Amino acid sequence: MHLNWYNIGTIYQIYPRSFKDSSGNGVGDLRGIINQLDYIKSLHVDIIWISPIFQSPNNDNGYDVSDYCEILPEFGTMSDFDELLNEAHSRNLKVILDLVPNHTSDEHDWFKKAKQSKDNEFRDYYIWKKPAEDGGLPNNWPSFFGGPAWTLDEKSGEYYLHLFTKNQPDLNWENPKVREEIYKVMRFWLNNGVDGFRMDVITLLSKDLSFSNVDLSIGFRKIIERHYANGPKIHDYLNEMNEKVMQHYDAFSMGEGVGVTPINAPLYVANDREELDMVYHFDVLENNILNGKYEEITDFNLLNIKKVFRDWHQVYEQNGWVANAFGNHDFARMVSRFANDTTFQKQSAKMLITLMATQNGTLTVYQGDEIGMTNVDLEHIDEVNDIQSLNFYAENLQTKKFSEIQALQMINNEGRDNARTPMQWSDEKYAGFSSAKPWLKVNPNYTSINVENQLDEEGSILNYYRKILAIKKENDIFCVGEFSEIEQNNEHLFAYTKKFEDNRLLVLLSFSEVPINVEYKFNKNYSYEEIINNYETIEMNSNSIKLLPYQALIFNIQVN
Ligand code: GLC
Repeated sequence: MHLNWYNIGTIYQIYPRSFKDSSGNGVGDLRGIINQLDYIKSLHVDIIWISPIFQSPNNDNGYDVSDYCEILPEFGTMSDFDELLNEAHSRNLKVILDLVPNHTSDEHDWFKKAKQSKDNEFRDYYIWKKPAEDGGLPNNWPSFFGGPAWTLDEKSGEYYLHLFTKNQPDLNWENPKVREEIYKVMRFWLNNGVDGFRMDVITLLSKDLSFSNVDLSIGFRKIIERHYANGPKIHDYLNEMNEKVMQHYDAFSMGEGVGVTPINAPLYVANDREELDMVYHFDVLENNILNGKYEEITDFNLLNIKKVFRDWHQVYEQNGWVANAFGNHDFARMVSRFANDTTFQKQSAKMLITLMATQNGTLTVYQGDEIGMTNVDLEHIDEVNDIQSLNFYAENLQTKKFSEIQALQMINNEGRDNARTPMQWSDEKYAGFSSAKPWLKVNPNYTSINVENQLDEEGSILNYYRKILAIKKENDIFCVGEFSEIEQNNEHLFAYTKKFEDNRLLVLLSFSEVPINVEYKFNKNYSYEEIINNYETIEMNSNSIKLLPYQALIFNIQVN
């Protein structure tokens, strides 16, 4: 298979509001990113994905766009953006933007005009429905962020669809004018020099047009999969988008694969489909979240995670490509969710990146994970910013399903603010993120977990990331190849070999808080060179290896 720069490259995701504030207003900005480009480069990543930077009233922190071709003033100006792009490119870093084509903000001009009257030329940019016969909602669709997916526009007496908050009306992709508008936006940024897009909830562009009621008992995840995502025209739209825009640029598309499974993923990403270059799947991130946030959660189970990786291998067999993530701005911190954020925070953070860096696909690293940032404890609902969490809390006040303490605890365990606390640069006030009080609470553990501390500490998580990402950059086998598991049913061990062209790797990862023994017959005809170890020691003989808590090892195997 031909590997492009975006297959091999590692993506670093920046949540601009929380990355670095240069202006002293408590909000991260573009100049803050420019000032940290050398740091980013030092991680040996290749591509920066910046969460939305466009004009927005910030109901959903930028995922509610009111002008796709203007920079949010809090973040800076277009000339700051040009400088960011030039400075990144001069360091050989690519930059991709977050395209939000499924919905706009209700403050977007299109929506304001659409609301003016039923015959306004922008009316059909959005999805309107008459009330049901009893005068109520057009159907029973729930929104992603709580409450119904419809809001009544009093003036016209019609409802508009919003799969997210009521301030994020869904665009009507059936309308060719809407599609052309979004293509125009894409060309605008691509002509400006950006290297591609992460495409927000791209699988939702085509809806189930029958708009019939859904069976709520199947749970929210299944509702998404069956009714909101993968709609009848999705592949036509993505094909058209590729033909009209993407294929004319040396740029790539990473689609946020909400509702995508290993079975239908090839339809989006197989080479001959000419739709998306890769799909960012949720099966790791949502592993223990059964029905959508704040519904059912199970304990972490390594066997499930192993199955996810195994299943997604099918996509490569069909010439498709996937993006992998253990963390992003929508989930609690990876080290708190999947490993151990106290006694073994350091070892387990290193182990998790070893796992991610050796999986087939494009690796995405979320800001702060490279220093092992953890979940935060918000002590009061007033400290919560995220709209999803706030809606959940407000709804729960009505339903009283959980006590207020329990609800806050759930927000602390699962909420999106965990990943959005300011980046911890140093042990200075506000973690060196800003000179002013930040927009969201700083995690108090910044005094020990911060970039400055880890820069010169040889055994730090940061330096481990740098090392493994540097090795990955030089060895394609990290992101591609045949994958075969060892001890598939072991609940504490994830172990596998990889083979690509003449290269072979053996990867051993412990998910246990106590030492474990792994029976492994080393082949006498091979030599095993240890290239990664998150401890300084290794205990092994010709038939077994003892793994210390959360130990991670990679051997490069050579045939003698
Ligand atoms: C995506 C984004 C999330 C946002 C939602 C609506 O899932 O990652 O942050 O709230 O889409 O745009």
